[in-house]
Amino acid sequence: MRLLVFAGSTRQHSFNRKLARVTAALAREAGAEVTHIELGDFDVPMYNADLEARGTPADVMRLKQLGFEHPAWIICAPEYNASYPALLKNTLDWISSPVKSDPAWTDGFKSTRGKVVGMLSASPGALGGLRSQSHLAPLLLNLNFWVAPTSFALGRAEDAFDADGQLVADSARNHVRAVVDQVLWAAERLQAGN
Ligand code: FNR
Repeated sequence: MRLLVFAGSTRQHSFNRKLARVTAALAREAGAEVTHIELGDFDVPMYNADLEARGTPADVMRLKQLGFEHPAWIICAPEYNASYPALLKNTLDWISSPVKSDPAWTDGFKSTRGKVVGMLSASPGALGGLRSQSHLAPLLLNLNFWVAPTSFALGRAEDAFDADGQLVADSARNHVRAVVDQVLWAAERLQAGN
């Protein structure tokens, strides 16, 4: 199963980037073929339809293709003001915007429809970014994802990782593994049915 993993943060010491690295490792252990990307490696401007009319940026096309190639996704979402950050919204808006000039990409949901997505979050707060997920889920459903019902919010994130970026608590690792397992389980069954 091909799994795409990324975090909605480009911050150098981002907790969600650390969580994405842990997630990718656990998914590889579970036998998935993991593509772990950093959104900071993609040159994606703030969405603007006038800009788009001059041509969809090359890195947006890379993201669309990556999304399309992966039946399973896991997103690690920071929480900003009880919701998810603009970086995630902007990335997903670009991914879902049809490329009118390219017959292969006139379907805006080509990259996301029917994919299984798992949500994780990490925050220094006690709730671990749970409210970010509650806003992210409707957006993902609108993009025609199947949203995995099991999710995990990592609270007190500044104490949650050791110096090597590993999760300190076995319980936290087990929660992440449960999301990974469910996403892979569901994606395999959806693929088999297609
Ligand atoms: C935050 N942060 C935050 N945390 C939280 O648990 N609930 C919240 O509502 C908010 N709101 C918020 C707004 C803004 C504008 C910023 C910049 C930050 C704190 C946030 O969780 C923290 O900065 C994390 O470290 C961000 O995630 P990364 O970059 O570590 O992955």
